[in-house]
Amino acid sequence: MNVTIEPIKEHIGAIVHVDKEHLCDDDVVQAIRDALEDRGVLVFPKINLTDEEQLAFTDKFGERVKFTGTVPGGEGGGDELYKITLDKKINKEPDYVLGTYFWHMDGVTIDQPLPKATMLSARALSPTGGQTEFASTFAAYENLPEDQKKAIEDLKVIHRMEASMRPLYVDMPEERLERYRSMATWMVHPLVWSQKGGRKSLVLGTHADEVIGMPVPEGRALLAKLTEWAAQPDFSYSHDWQEGDFVVWNNCGLMHRVVPYEADCGRMMHRTTIMGTERLGRPLKELEAA
Ligand code: OGA
Ligand code: MN
Repeated sequence: MNVTIEPIKEHIGAIVHVDKEHLCDDDVVQAIRDALEDRGVLVFPKINLTDEEQLAFTDKFGERVKFTGTVPGGEGGGDELYKITLDKKINKEPDYVLGTYFWHMDGVTIDQPLPKATMLSARALSPTGGQTEFASTFAAYENLPEDQKKAIEDLKVIHRMEASMRPLYVDMPEERLERYRSMATWMVHPLVWSQKGGRKSLVLGTHADEVIGMPVPEGRALLAKLTEWAAQPDFSYSHDWQEGDFVVWNNCGLMHRVVPYEADCGRMMHRTTIMGTERLGRPLKELEAA
C-alpha cells in the first residue's frame, strides 16, 4: 500500500506519508480513516494540495459539509472551501476566527450531527503564533480515575455559541449577543459521549456553558478542570505549521485551538469539513417542551 502512518505521541497524532497521486486510492483512504480513529489528528507534511485536490480528497473521505465561501462576514473566495483568516479585506466579521483562540470543537452549537472531521491546508503562515493545538478527549476520559468517571457519567451540559464568544469581550455588545443567538442553537449534550464504536469521550470547549442540575459556578469549575485535564501535554499535540501542510482531525474526539496570531499577518487556512453521522444532543428548547 502507498501510505505509512507514523505515530507522533503515545495518545495522539500521526504523520501520514503518502504521495498525493495516491491520496484518493481506496486502500489509502481506508487507512487514513482508521488512523483518524486511532490517532485523532493526522499531519500530511508539505503535501501542497490545491483546492481541487483537497475537495477531491474530502469528497472521497466522506460527505462534505457545504459552506459558502468564507467565515461569516467574509467576502470573495470560492464557494467550496471555508477561508480561515483574520485578514480584514477578506473577513469583515472576525469573531468566529478569534473564537478559535480558545479550546473548542467545531459545530457543537448547531442542531445537526456533530461534524466528523475538519481538514485544513496551510496556504500562508503567520510569522509568530498560529500553531494549532489538539487535545484528545478520548484519552482524557479513559485516563480519569474511576470515581471521577462515575461522578460525571450522567451529566448533561448546555452549549451556547455566545459562551464561546465571551472571551473576546469585556462587555459583549447586545447586537453581537443577538447575532450569536440567532445563528446558533442552545444545545444540550452529554458530558461523556458514548460513541457508536463503543469508545467514550468528553464533550468540552468554551461553548460548554452550564452543567444541568449544578449551580453555574460549580458547573463551570468542573468544566474548566476537565478542560485542563484534557489539555495536559500527554494528551495533546501542538502543530507548528509549514506552508503546504494538510492536517485532518477527528472533531468527535478532540478539542482544538490556535495560538493567537496577528490579524494582518496574512495567515490563511483553507478548510473543508466532513459531516458526522451521530446526533450527539438535542436543542434545549425541544427538551424543555417535552
Ligand atoms: C477551525 C479552527 C484553527 C486554526 O478552522 O475550526 O479552529 O488553526 N482553526 O486556524
Ligand atoms: Mn475550529
